[in-house]
Amino acid sequence: MFRILLVLAFASCIKGDEDNMKNLTTVTWAHAVNNKTYLEATLASEVSMLEADIVLGHVIGKDGPPIPIMAHPPATTSDLTLADFLSAVSQYNNVNSKQKGVKLDFKSIEAFEKAQDHIAPFAKPEFTFPLWLNADILPGPVEATTKPVDPVKFLTLGSKHSRAVLSVGWTTLYGGNITEGEYSRDQIGSMLRLLNENHVNQTVTFPVRAGLASNSQPVILDLLRETGSLNSSITVWSSEGDPVEVDRLRALLLTVGLERTYLDVPHELAARLRLPPPDNKAKN
Ligand SMILES: *[C@@H]1O[C@H](CO)[C@@H](O)[C@H](O)[C@H]1NC(C)=O
Ligand SMILES: *[C@@H]1O[C@H](CO)[C@@H](O)[C@H](O)[C@H]1NC(C)=O
Ligand SMILES: *[C@@H]1O[C@H](CO)[C@@H](O)[C@H](O)[C@H]1NC(C)=O
Ligand SMILES: *[C@@H]1O[C@H](CO)[C@@H](O)[C@H](O)[C@H]1NC(C)=O
Ligand SMILES: *[C@@H]1O[C@H](CO)[C@@H](O)[C@H](O)[C@H]1NC(C)=O
Repeated sequence: MFRILLVLAFASCIKGDEDNMKNLTTVTWAHAVNNKTYLEATLASEVSMLEADIVLGHVIGKDGPPIPIMAHPPATTSDLTLADFLSAVSQYNNVNSKQKGVKLDFKSIEAFEKAQDHIAPFAKPEFTFPLWLNADILPGPVEATTKPVDPVKFLTLGSKHSRAVLSVGWTTLYGGNITEGEYSRDQIGSMLRLLNENHVNQTVTFPVRAGLASNSQPVILDLLRETGSLNSSITVWSSEGDPVEVDRLRALLLTVGLERTYLDVPHELAARLRLPPPDNKAKN
């Protein structure tokens, strides 16, 4: 009897630790890491994931054919190329035990196509830092006007980097005078069809906008259930000033589970969520 109890206590101890490690909302984010100064600052900070935007353009003061650079549209110049960005992060990770990950947000399929040779070396198995390839590949809520990145080309090229997480989402237009909206069953269905038809077999995450996602719990649960074999997760994001129903968002996070929810929202919103603390029972 005593031995059984000990075994049980040990097992629940391990489980407690695993659960702690799997609280994906503890992952912290830096945004628009699109220039050298800010890249250096974020590498020197505590932040765990560096989100950055890639367009085709030029390094300030240089000509030649357009290359993948770190910039957000409408900008087409930067002091930082994708190649330099990736090698700086990789060098940091070589000499630091706590690795930082990158979320590369491709603003056009042309930028992603031209980025292939720069990504490939870091997608090899000897690298272990989180490497996310992100694009909005489908039109989404509410009245999005941005043109999505070609979905079939994005998934086909993305699948060549099997270590990378594919972060695939919908264009959105929300906030300001648009205060209501949700992800529709059709929009979720289109994503599932694309993943199936393109035989995606690597880890995926779905970036969803907090104010819209909180109104879409049933379809988001469907989406995650249907993609369970891809170890899918959601990445809940929000723009400064987006209207968000906090209680509904909290319910979504807790229903999906913190082990499947990255949280990339302004501090003020994160604080209002009052997420429950880790379960400490195992430590008694
Ligand atoms: C560098 O990037 C940061 C974050 O996007 C931005 O706040 C800052 O103004 C940028 N600096 C330059 C010189 O572009
Ligand atoms: C919402 O605001 C935009 C500009 O900010 C304006 O063009 C549009 O007409 C507004 N829509 C409504 C329904 O008020
Ligand atoms: C996953 O998909 C890639 C590209 O479509 C393919 O080359 C690979 O064999 C697949 N792997 C598995 C385990 O099915
Ligand atoms: C899902 O996670 C399991 C366990 O870590 C791993 O063996 C499997 O390869 C992963 N599959 C995908 C598609 O990420
Ligand atoms: C998960 O992490 C968040 C952010 O660090 C924290 O506020 C929350 O208490 C944690 N919850 C659990 C169950 O680990």
